[in-house]
Amino acid sequence: APLQARNSFAVPARAAWLAEVGDARRLPEALARMEPADRAPLVLGGGSNLLLVDDPAMPMIALTGQQVDFNDTGDARVQVRADAGAHWHDFVMRTLAHGLGGLENLALIPGTVGAAPIQNIGAYGVEVREYIHAVEAYEPASGQTHRFDANACAFAYRDSRFKRERDRYIVTAVEFELLRADAGHSLKLDYAGIGDELAAMGIDAPTASDVADAVIAIRRRKLPDPAVIGNAGSFFKNPIVAADLAEALRREHPRLPVYPLAPFPADAAGHGEAPHGGLCKLSAAWLIDACGWKGHRDGDAGIAASHALVLVNHGSASGAQLLDLARRVAGSVSERFGVALEPEPRIVGASW
Ligand code: EPU
Repeated sequence: APLQARNSFAVPARAAWLAEVGDARRLPEALARMEPADRAPLVLGGGSNLLLVDDPAMPMIALTGQQVDFNDTGDARVQVRADAGAHWHDFVMRTLAHGLGGLENLALIPGTVGAAPIQNIGAYGVEVREYIHAVEAYEPASGQTHRFDANACAFAYRDSRFKRERDRYIVTAVEFELLRADAGHSLKLDYAGIGDELAAMGIDAPTASDVADAVIAIRRRKLPDPAVIGNAGSFFKNPIVAADLAEALRREHPRLPVYPLAPFPADAAGHGEAPHGGLCKLSAAWLIDACGWKGHRDGDAGIAASHALVLVNHGSASGAQLLDLARRVAGSVSERFGVALEPEPRIVGASW
């Protein structure tokens, strides 16, 4: 099956075997037919966090179920269950239309509901883990269906148990707990220009939907639209480093954005606990920008002119060409600042 229209980098690649499964209860039957049978399948969501360097050697599964159910008993808190295949942004807009707050800062993130918990998507001061009640997942190796509560998902910055235990689970549905917007939901307006955007829109008492509109406007301005120019959003995670290293870097580069990291509550396995001394998140975009990469272009592989963290395909770059540029970007940041950048998307057909 051709994959060019199914990955947001629009890289040409082909899947040897790809099955679309509408009802997650039919996964066992679909998996019993897959080829090669001895390799864990790769689950394809919106293809917006994927760099295909080669044709995938593993079978591919796409969950197409889109069901969304509101369990609205009139309480302030409302549980909403959505199938993994639901389109993320459409889902966010539906929850807002239903009068529920929580997901407004996460508007316009590409991809599917099922992908959201895997890398704990986040933007504008909100991470999706804050609103996830439980994640339903199928485990092909055991044939079991699991329901993980938020704690068991071991969420951290752009990370979760589903990402760490790669390919072990297939997320089939996500349950959210949202707050009725008129029941004391507090909006997060302090991050990355949302306040300024709302002011420019002439809004002084914003609703959750207004915040979504502001986020949409900021994203449209800063991030290239994958429908127009191939990209996977931020290509690198913001590096997390020890506070003393951040301090030393800041002394040398006073304008480097440094965000002290609030320690996550540790789960049973100890994930998320901040080691002694504390940790800080650095702006990867700033580091890349400082190395002069913004707007750089090698053939059709490039770094977006509007945002240094976004690797772009101007037309016919191959996955290998994109990966090559990304490696050179990371190499220069490492050389100049001594900071290792880690890619955010999943890379198929090569290792980082
Ligand atoms: N900056 C530069 N040069 C640039 C762009 C940004 O120096 O070209 C600096 C600026 O100082 C800016 C700072 O970097 O203030 C932060 O930029 P931005 O607000 O765009 O956020 P980010 O840290 O680069 C993260 C997420 C984005 C999310 C934004 C907004 C990661 C890897 N990325 O980017 O998520 O939309 O915050 O909250 O954490 C994604 O994951 O695909 C994604 C787009």
